[in-house]
Amino acid sequence: MGVNELYRDLKPFCEKIRSIGENGNEIFIITHLDADGIISASIICSSLTRLGAKCTIRTVSDLTLDLIEQIQSENHDFYMVTDLGGGMANELFKALNNKWMIIDHHQIPSEEMLGDYNDQILNAWKYSIDGGKEICAGGMAYLVANTLDRKNRDLSSIAVVSAIADRQDQGDKKSLIGMNSEIVKTAQSLGLISVDLDLMFTGRETRPLHEALAYTSFPYIDGLTWDTENCYTLFKNAGVKMKDNGRWRALSEISQEEKSIILDAIAKFVATSSQNIAANVIDNLMGYRYTLINEDQRSQLRDAREFGTMLNACGRIRKAGVGIGICMGDRNTMLAQGEEIVVNYRTTLRNYLSAIFAEKWRLVDDGESVFVNGEGLLTEDMVSAVASILGESPTFSGRLLFVRTLAKDGTYKFSSRKCLGCKIESNLGLLIRTCSESVGGIGGGHFATAGCRIPSTRLEHFLQNLRSSIVHDRFATAS
Ligand code: C5P
Repeated sequence: MGVNELYRDLKPFCEKIRSIGENGNEIFIITHLDADGIISASIICSSLTRLGAKCTIRTVSDLTLDLIEQIQSENHDFYMVTDLGGGMANELFKALNNKWMIIDHHQIPSEEMLGDYNDQILNAWKYSIDGGKEICAGGMAYLVANTLDRKNRDLSSIAVVSAIADRQDQGDKKSLIGMNSEIVKTAQSLGLISVDLDLMFTGRETRPLHEALAYTSFPYIDGLTWDTENCYTLFKNAGVKMKDNGRWRALSEISQEEKSIILDAIAKFVATSSQNIAANVIDNLMGYRYTLINEDQRSQLRDAREFGTMLNACGRIRKAGVGIGICMGDRNTMLAQGEEIVVNYRTTLRNYLSAIFAEKWRLVDDGESVFVNGEGLLTEDMVSAVASILGESPTFSGRLLFVRTLAKDGTYKFSSRKCLGCKIESNLGLLIRTCSESVGGIGGGHFATAGCRIPSTRLEHFLQNLRSSIVHDRFATAS
């Protein structure tokens, strides 16, 4: 099975959606509360609404048995599940008969790859497409939208945002690859997106240089990220002209030569302050940028990465509705709220990261793996964001990272990442799934990013399992 079979299967899949949509049914969309979930649901909602259906979206962190029971009792005409639902086909069938479809990119159990519900599950992995880096749920939803009606190609630009927000920019210089790059081409051909190679500072056209570096959290550079004064001093000492006729200069206004000076200055800072390989950081500061040309020049939505950050922020503080409003086109109230959410989100993250670096007892680092204890500090919804930022910090380059906190329901929530430049071969998704299941937890994910929940009483056992599995993987790879 490959891409050809995907396009073949999209047709009957979409015919079913069309018949449900055109009959004016009320469709309930259940989606994950991160940016990819928000975008995939918005794309499906837009395409169904254009067909004449009525849609409601609910964002959740997991598709649990309790939730399935609850939505069953609500008795909607039909259910679309996006960016969620792997392994739950039997449960969905028991509760909802055949009144559901799943659009997803997470790895699924073999019985769902080609089983009884084949025509109801559209998943990248069924077609040998790597859902970890070649397409995400937003991209899969876009393929559905495009098959339903070519007019839906205007949704290609937010599909690009979902891929970026889901950290699928894993090609050379942070480019999108595989099916994602095909969607980029469509968006480019429609004049919706432009792509260019540049420094990856946040606010390239809108912020003073030093602020642009300070607001850049990928890679997170301890001492520079979120420290505008240090960034200002760094550039000033390097001889960069910060103002032009009394006005702050932005990244878009400076020459290639000045960009090299800036990169050199950052490399020196990293090399002296964190005793780490500066080359990794510098590599990660140059990359492909995806610009949504039709957004306002001063809008954060112009840069796909900033757009994605806003949506992730909305989801993580449980205001996914604001993100959905933005994806569906609101550029007034919802966007204003989104901008406010991002400011608060950055402040919260900054406080978390300062505490983690200041309170050394929170870190256990053996040079190969680093465990971060976020208990009493991190809320469960922010663990993933903190892990993503720490994973790109030069301080932890080359390692496997595991961040945890105690959740409200008494379980431990873990987020795991392969850090910058990590060469360890272990598949984190498999590692986390096996180790969490062995202690009665639930988890999974992709090669370089994964997460789980485990019962709090089994923490030590889980950590032991993890450590021995990492060692086991190392020997297996070496032999
Ligand atoms: O929660 P976090 O962002 O750390 O999750 C990383 C990846 O692992 C995501 O792709 C998420 O969908 C996946 N995951 C999973 N099962 C879980 C938790 C996370 O597949 N129980």
